Amino acid sequence: TWTMLNIVEEQVEAIREQIGDGRAICALSGGVDSAVAAAIVQRAIGDRLTCVYVDHGMMRLGETEQVRSDFEAVFDTLDVVDAADQFLGALEGVHDPEEKRKIIGREFIRTFEAAEARVFGDVEGGATAYLVQGTLYPDVVESGGGAGTSNIKSHHNVGGLPDDLQFELVEPLRTLFKDEVRLVGEQLGLPSTMVWRQPFPGPGLGIRIIGEVTRERLDVLRQADAIAREELTRAGLDRDIWQMPVVLLADVRSVGVQGDGRTYGHPVVIRPVTSEDAMTADWARLPYDVLERISTRITNEVAEVNRVTLDVTSKPPGTIEWE
Ligand code: XMP
Repeated sequence: TWTMLNIVEEQVEAIREQIGDGRAICALSGGVDSAVAAAIVQRAIGDRLTCVYVDHGMMRLGETEQVRSDFEAVFDTLDVVDAADQFLGALEGVHDPEEKRKIIGREFIRTFEAAEARVFGDVEGGATAYLVQGTLYPDVVESGGGAGTSNIKSHHNVGGLPDDLQFELVEPLRTLFKDEVRLVGEQLGLPSTMVWRQPFPGPGLGIRIIGEVTRERLDVLRQADAIAREELTRAGLDRDIWQMPVVLLADVRSVGVQGDGRTYGHPVVIRPVTSEDAMTADWARLPYDVLERISTRITNEVAEVNRVTLDVTSKPPGTIEWE
């Protein structure tokens, strides 16, 4: 924790130097990384920081409302942008995972540009625009961002950035792993729900629908995901499990029997994993009774889903997310 304190002080200094008397926008996702990054920058430049949370239409059930109330308690300025039409429009007809990631990365930046013009539009023209991101070391490595790295997938905040990026990036966590970020978060006194929140990828449910992303499919996945998370929490396993994506195999159908009739619905995959830093992961041995409750409830409560399957692949060879 001594080093964590040092990191905060070092970064506060570096940020003051970088931003000077300028202003910055922070891309807040609701997760621990961007929350900690924002808290550090707020220490450095105070109310010259504006936090922007983008609802891209691919968030989980109730997530935007939750983030709004959690974060308004901690940050002075929070701008919540509803950009669902923009993102989902841009994703129409797109199936390829890397293409999805690039589009989402680009639309995020467009949204932040618009937010920055809206928020700081009246400030002196031509000033440098700073964008604070909660980028971690593993994001950089896996997006192929440094020597000796390979492009596994383009994280929306690194390899997914557009070439014509106008922002100067501020990334105080770029050398840290998530367990370190959590320590920093505790040092800064952030609420433990924020610090210990399970990771959720910036591209959201968009990379958990295998196939084209549509509103109907998002609704189906949102329901299944909410049930799975509820049962995991009820079992008291939130902290033991690193995260548990629910994936909708939207282009696959299988025959089932629900009620007294034949169904031809979609499978979902649940992917509980344990991990230290997301660079490697093991599939989690969830208790059978928890799996049973998740399976029974999803197939009873989500009409379009008639099969629940379990992913028992570690990373490597599988990644945590399916796309
Ligand atoms: P993978 O699927 O590469 O995921 O094993 C490793 C960790 O990173 C999260 N993830 C992302 N987070 N933007 C993010 O902010 C992204 O584009 C992204 N892709 C994956 C994933 O949920 C896991 O925790």
